[in-house]
Amino acid sequence: MKIQLTYDRPAQLSADLLVVILNQETTLHDLSGSPINGIVQRIVRDVQDKRLKSDYFTSLDSKGPANLAVYSTAHSPAYNVWENVKIFVARAIRLARNHGLKHIAVLLNTDDALPFVGKAVEGAILGGYKFDRYRKEKTDTDDVVFTIVGLKAHDQKNQQLLSRYTLVSNVINEARDMINEPGSVATPEYLAQAGRQIAKEADLDFKVWDEKKLQKEGYNGLLQVGRGSAHPPRLIRLAYRAKKAKGHLAFVGKGITFDTGGISIKPADKMYEMKGDMSGGAAVLYAMKAIGTLKPQVNITGIVPTAENFPDANAQRPGDIFYAKNGKSIMVDNTDAEGRLVLTDGLHLAGEENATHILDIATLTGACVRALGLSIAGIMGNSPQLVQAVIRSGQNHGESFWELPLPEEYKDLLKTPYADINNIGGPIAGALTAGLFLQEFVPEKTAWAHLDIAGPFIREKDWKYYEAGAIGFGLKTLVDVAERFNEYGF
Ligand code: BES
Ligand code: ZN
Ligand code: ZN
Repeated sequence: MKIQLTYDRPAQLSADLLVVILNQETTLHDLSGSPINGIVQRIVRDVQDKRLKSDYFTSLDSKGPANLAVYSTAHSPAYNVWENVKIFVARAIRLARNHGLKHIAVLLNTDDALPFVGKAVEGAILGGYKFDRYRKEKTDTDDVVFTIVGLKAHDQKNQQLLSRYTLVSNVINEARDMINEPGSVATPEYLAQAGRQIAKEADLDFKVWDEKKLQKEGYNGLLQVGRGSAHPPRLIRLAYRAKKAKGHLAFVGKGITFDTGGISIKPADKMYEMKGDMSGGAAVLYAMKAIGTLKPQVNITGIVPTAENFPDANAQRPGDIFYAKNGKSIMVDNTDAEGRLVLTDGLHLAGEENATHILDIATLTGACVRALGLSIAGIMGNSPQLVQAVIRSGQNHGESFWELPLPEEYKDLLKTPYADINNIGGPIAGALTAGLFLQEFVPEKTAWAHLDIAGPFIREKDWKYYEAGAIGFGLKTLVDVAERFNEYGF
């Protein structure tokens, strides 16, 4: 798909499909002097009078665009206008695809419309995504042109938004590809190779620990979880260093390439979704790719502890005890609580790197899914400022986070007679006890927030501008926090 800006008058456009977006508070289109102005004005009235209750699509016989699609935020009250712009653009892209229309243009040619230019780009790129590498019938979008009709007065800002949102949306789609790949393909070594490639493309420093180096240095969380797998674990580190840095932010992403549960094996139903148990890791890897180009004024280190959780004669068993890198002994009560074990290694490395702020992102608990459902991620942390920053950055991009507590009192649930800490907290408050477990491995004097994305990492059906499957959740939020790090003034 080619995405471009134009400042032509709408009447001069020769698009196959012209998209107009209606919103009560703001006017996003200017059709003055265009022959279709009358039609759109009538649609505006019909929406206001509630006569028109859905999207409007018609072919035109005038000289300009061949077809017209009109979308109104009044028909999509569950989402804010920012999300709706992306949703409508994605709908238009699919409509065009189904009708064999190649050139789509959206009107954003008013003063009010400026801030939506980036959102339209995102809607087109995320909405145009298809995971079709295993299908005979491919969706060929190479010859599709998406034109944003803007205001010339905003040219510089428009260009900025176009390039920023193109970059971030494309890396989200790359993350979705990685997450959608089966576990037999996207192994720990595959993630490491992807990390190496990203480092090369985005000019980042790259390090990887293979199983020998992990052993030598005592990264036992990864080694324990990886014991049952034919694909040995890796610890991946990508570093971006700013010219003038005021802080050091580390991202730590859970990279379980397939989570069978291990000896504490999961039931068969939907187990395949656990190919996406490296969604946090994918978000970190590809956020780093964007960051290498965006060059924010803060040091960023991306860390992905990655392993496969399999049952095997060599696998860890319930009751096994091992020492984490910070010296604490952990009893593995349940081998399916493996994410937190590999994260102990990632958090430790973040400390070694002298991070001042850590965000970990993980498909960590079914309990979080039960608490918040599929559209909202959980967030916990030791720094209210950092937690609020993540929530704000999420809101900027349509990713919802809801804060859950880390009650001191519940630490008792992680007690065991056999070791310093148990890896599960029992049947209640599972998202919280997972957060409390991680907290024990956060380096001292470091601001930390934990993002539990077990709910939103994947969809069974299309959602908003996403097709069914992985959505790359969290990546946009990580990038936004990096970009605004100094603005947040921690
Ligand atoms: N990867 C799972 C969590 C998960 C569940 C992610 C559903 C996405 C959707 C994690 O490793 C896990 O199995 N957690 C257990 C923890 C329990 C054993 C304490 C869970 O949530 O059941
Ligand atoms: Zn698990
Ligand atoms: Zn898991």
